[in-house]
Amino acid sequence: MPFQAPPGTEDVLPERVPLWLRVEEAVRRVFGAYGYEEVRAPVFEYTQLFHKSTGEVTDIVEKEMYTFGDAEESFSLRPELTPSIARILVEHSLFAKRNFWKLFYIGAAFRKERPQKGRLRQFHQLGVEAVGSADPALDAETILMFQHLLRDLGVTRYEARINSIGCPECRPAYRELLRKAIEPEIARYCENCRRRLGRNVFRILDCKACVALTEKLPPVIEHTCAKCKEHLAAVEKALAGAPYKVDPRIVRGLDYYTRTVYEFRSDLLGAQDAIGGGGRYDTLIRDMGGPDVGAVGFAAGVERILLCLDAAGAKIDASRPDFYVVAVDGSCRPEAFRVANSLRGAGLAGDLDFEGRSLKAQFRTANKSGARTVLVVGPDEMARGKVKLKNMQDGTEREASLDEARAILKGGTT
Ligand code: HAM
Repeated sequence: MPFQAPPGTEDVLPERVPLWLRVEEAVRRVFGAYGYEEVRAPVFEYTQLFHKSTGEVTDIVEKEMYTFGDAEESFSLRPELTPSIARILVEHSLFAKRNFWKLFYIGAAFRKERPQKGRLRQFHQLGVEAVGSADPALDAETILMFQHLLRDLGVTRYEARINSIGCPECRPAYRELLRKAIEPEIARYCENCRRRLGRNVFRILDCKACVALTEKLPPVIEHTCAKCKEHLAAVEKALAGAPYKVDPRIVRGLDYYTRTVYEFRSDLLGAQDAIGGGGRYDTLIRDMGGPDVGAVGFAAGVERILLCLDAAGAKIDASRPDFYVVAVDGSCRPEAFRVANSLRGAGLAGDLDFEGRSLKAQFRTANKSGARTVLVVGPDEMARGKVKLKNMQDGTEREASLDEARAILKGGTT
């Protein structure tokens, strides 16, 4: 039985790579336009980093991390990138250089989940983190930038939902309220939620199994403090004109969020309908040993964006090579090789046969490749120090020296 890729991983075959490049190119261009700089982090970190940031009592840390190491050191493949970015800022004392950083990333992340459409064990996130400001305009900027990216890529069928989940000032009272509301009914909740009641009652709100029960609980947005309400109002003001709606049920599955949280969903995706999500995290940088500064960011799944593009029928035209060199017989192959390499050295793109195929078959390949010009290297041409150029658009032929052929191809005419 031949090997198969592990479940929940995806191979990107050559025909799909142009779509990936299109997303990556759009990310660099759009995020760059808003002043974000790219940063790259290792794919694994000390396990403790995720316990302290993503949160001990979250699905991700409790059951979805790939962890390895020995008695002394435990490492985990990153299930998300925000903790790494927080670590990088603190470890490299970046705040000594500047108080405010706008960073973006694209990279693999790993979660041990049950694979299904849009839910992988190795997936890729593109994301941003704006660190060093509590300005609500920055929350809005990240949302608008996410929308800009999707528009640029041609993803139009999605919904942006935002919510406020309070801050360290107002959350303790809400947590108490929640505990009191849940406790009398706790027997009806799932095993996970029963355990979470004492440890992290807030997480019960995003339990998929208990939605029928949690739906009736008081939404956090109705129990935030005046400052949180003011913050949300300012975010909404800055978002004026952009498509979004407030959804009191968005709580997100990670522990570090404060105030604004948001999710982008698309009905093109099926059950795993989140294209991306994010929010503000005003205490994480301090908790990681950095200064007491506000921060906000989001991440989106590249594979989910590609699913949206597929559903919209996005295609990328394969680029056409400049030339294909055919050798009339075996004796001409070394010269055909020299001709092709000389043209590539001049910045032209093209190929030649490496399978010992007949002249006819070489022409078929040339045709299929979409090459604009075919260069024929034969014994007669070689004797005259020339090659034959065939223009594949109009079928015209001419003879030229290699130097002339290079100039002709560079000029774009045959
Ligand atoms: P998240 O909501 O856990 O947030 O993940 C962000 C996005 O990553 C999801 O909306 C989804 O598109 C994609 N994703 C997550 N898990 C999978 C999976 N198993 N398979 C395929 N795609 C997946 C975060 O990770 C936060 N770090 C976002 C953030 C940045 N918040 C602040 N800054």
